[in-house]
Amino acid sequence: MNIRFEISEDRNGIRYINLEAFDTDAEANLIDALRKSGIPIISLVAEENGQLVGHILFGPVTLDGDKPNISIAGLGPMAVLPDLQNQGIGSRLVEEGLKQCKRSGYEVVVVLGHPNYYPRFGFSPSANYGINSEYDVPAEVFMVKEIHAGALNGRSGTVIYHQAFKDVILKFAGGEHVGTKIISSDLQNQEVILE
Ligand SMILES: CC(C)(COP(=O)(O)OP(=O)(O)OC[C@H]1O[C@@H](n2cnc3c(N)ncnc32)[C@H](O)[C@@H]1OP(=O)(O)O)[C@@H](O)C(=O)NCCC(=O)NCCS
Repeated sequence: MNIRFEISEDRNGIRYINLEAFDTDAEANLIDALRKSGIPIISLVAEENGQLVGHILFGPVTLDGDKPNISIAGLGPMAVLPDLQNQGIGSRLVEEGLKQCKRSGYEVVVVLGHPNYYPRFGFSPSANYGINSEYDVPAEVFMVKEIHAGALNGRSGTVIYHQAFKDVILKFAGGEHVGTKIISSDLQNQEVILE
């Protein structure tokens, strides 16, 4: 399996993976919206025998706290084709993505996701650092990882995601699953939102 950066020819394949892995098209639309927004995303694909099987995206988020000048990446969405899940593809994507975040100069990565999955990569509840999500979610699902040890020392505040995330609402089922659901019909056509 090969992990590499997204190229333009991958866009339909990435959309397909996200449509297959999630209940709705919210994540696929979100990825398209983030690309169009022009923010510097890190978008990696997992490729096996010429087929795209997984995808992960990181984008910049801000800390709306007393010291906002820290470089933080938000992990997500990420997805693996359902038939190929639980084979380590997601783990490879997270590990390679974290390396790339470090190369790109990020000091911290945050993720809103499965509380049983991300701790294995060094994420822990953000509340331990006095860092909050802007979304009303259970504390254990918003997690943080310092890429540079001590980067969060003396810092606190609320992490703010790109506007495109605000049009999806998080959905939880027993703390085991995190997905997103469209709450704005405008999201059906991202061009309406972004232009
Ligand atoms: C989450 C996801 C990307 C993980 O990719 P993957 O290739 O299956 O992950 P890996 O094979 O590296 O790791 C498998 C582990 O993840 C766990 N896992 C998979 N999906 C999970 C979920 N929904 N909730 C909690 N843990 C989950 C498995 O139980 C397994 O744990 P184990 O190693 O202790 O047995 C993939 O399951 C997926 O695409 N899920 C649907 C979309 C999604 O929920 N994306 C993440 C949003 S935060």
